[in-house]
Amino acid sequence: MTTTLITGANKGLGKETARQLIAADHTVYLGARDEGRGRAAADELGARFVRLDVTDDASVDAAAAVIDAAGGLDVLINNAGIEGRLPGNGILAPADTTADDVRAMFETNVFGVVRVTHAFLPLLEQSAAPVIVNLSSGLASLTGLSTPDSPTHFYPGVAYPTSKAAVNAITIQFAKAYPGIRINAVEPGFTNTDLNGGTGIQTVEQGAAIIVRMAQTPQDGPTGTFVSAHGALPW
Ligand SMILES: NC(=O)c1ccc[n+]([C@@H]2O[C@H](COP(=O)([O-])OP(=O)(O)OC[C@H]3O[C@@H](n4cnc5c(N)ncnc54)[C@H](OP(=O)(O)O)[C@@H]3O)[C@@H](O)[C@H]2O)c1
Repeated sequence: MTTTLITGANKGLGKETARQLIAADHTVYLGARDEGRGRAAADELGARFVRLDVTDDASVDAAAAVIDAAGGLDVLINNAGIEGRLPGNGILAPADTTADDVRAMFETNVFGVVRVTHAFLPLLEQSAAPVIVNLSSGLASLTGLSTPDSPTHFYPGVAYPTSKAAVNAITIQFAKAYPGIRINAVEPGFTNTDLNGGTGIQTVEQGAAIIVRMAQTPQDGPTGTFVSAHGALPW
């Protein structure tokens, strides 16, 4: 039996990933920062709720202790994330972006990934088939952002793409340091969730498919890659 933790799984892609991995016989810990919404989602899906705010050391350490005591962890999915849309669904322009805006984005999307990974690495190292999936974005691709005919070239925001580019670098560095763990960054595609005010064009079922596939990466499978449902993406 494979035991999997998904951060930020009370809704959106994380919740749908939980649903699909439970169908694939994983024991899923559904991480959420809000106990009421997290428990409701876990009960609906047949997952185990664990309270986990990726910006809070104490909650992450407590979640690791709970999962360790219950038998350990095989798969970590660093899914919790924010895009920081403005009221009306706008995106902060470069001229209006402050250091505090970028810091707030990094606290969840970047430091959160490092905080959770650091806390759960000792558990993953005890697994026979450990896997980490980091939720990146097509907007992490410096090639895409800088290529005029790329679908991501138009995106005006600074903080979100920068945070996901950092997630990609984190993925590479941890993959090199832990060759026994399959560690990959995933772009789920532009998916209709609260993150983008419901503007995404895919369903969560479609978006979660690549997350679910990479969560099941075999021990002779890829590590240190950046992939979407359509294959490898340029960094
Ligand atoms: N949707 C897309 O088109 C798209 C494209 C590329 C990448 N992604 C990435 O996919 C991941 C999931 O996004 P989504 O679209 O499913 O968004 P979503 O529906 O807004 O879900 C985001 C989840 O992250 C949680 N979260 C935020 N801050 C947290 C914190 N400090 N601690 C714990 N959980 C926290 C949210 O919890 P609350 O309910 O408590 O806020 C929510 O459960 C994100 O990393 C996102 O960047 C999404």
